[in-house]
Amino acid sequence: MTLAPLLSASPAIELHAFAAMAAFALGIVQFAAPKGTIPHRTIGWIWVTLMLGVSLSSFFIHQIRLWGPWSPIHFLSIFTLVTLPLAVWAAHRHRVASHRRAMISLFLGALVIAGAFTLVPGRIMHEVAFGYAARPAAVEKASR
Ligand code: HEM
Repeated sequence: MTLAPLLSASPAIELHAFAAMAAFALGIVQFAAPKGTIPHRTIGWIWVTLMLGVSLSSFFIHQIRLWGPWSPIHFLSIFTLVTLPLAVWAAHRHRVASHRRAMISLFLGALVIAGAFTLVPGRIMHEVAFGYAARPAAVEKASR
């Protein structure tokens, strides 16, 4: 494992990946801890801010260009930007079931699935997790 590929990436990618990893760790703490308490609200607001950072920074990342500069993962960013305020609003109105459903879909649908896809060969997190040596020959050739 090495952070070097991330540290040499653009500021948007660095901000995006570190905010996403922090949101992932904090999300696990949040799911395990008691709900409705002051720490739950504090961690919740930090998590929402991190997820805003993850989604907004992704609009400055264009490594996968399927439609002009955009990739299918950008839909996930739009989904997150729409669902986050709805989840916060549900908590504010004490609609616990909707709040819970929205937060679980954000955590599993956005963070866990998007996070797993970052580990495919050729992407930066694959190099972070498995090192430069694990770069497939085709990617190695293309980047020369
Ligand atoms: C643990 C979770 C995550 C990690 C570690 C992560 C990391 C990264 C990294 C390193 C990149 C840029 C370089 C590359 O493609 O290799 C990237 C791109 C991107 N990520 Fe994430 N990310 C995560 C979660 C998310 C989430 C939750 C969203 C959406 C809400 C998201 C949306 C995107 C988008 C739209 C791109 C740009 C794709 C492109 O190159 O066009 N990511 N991510």
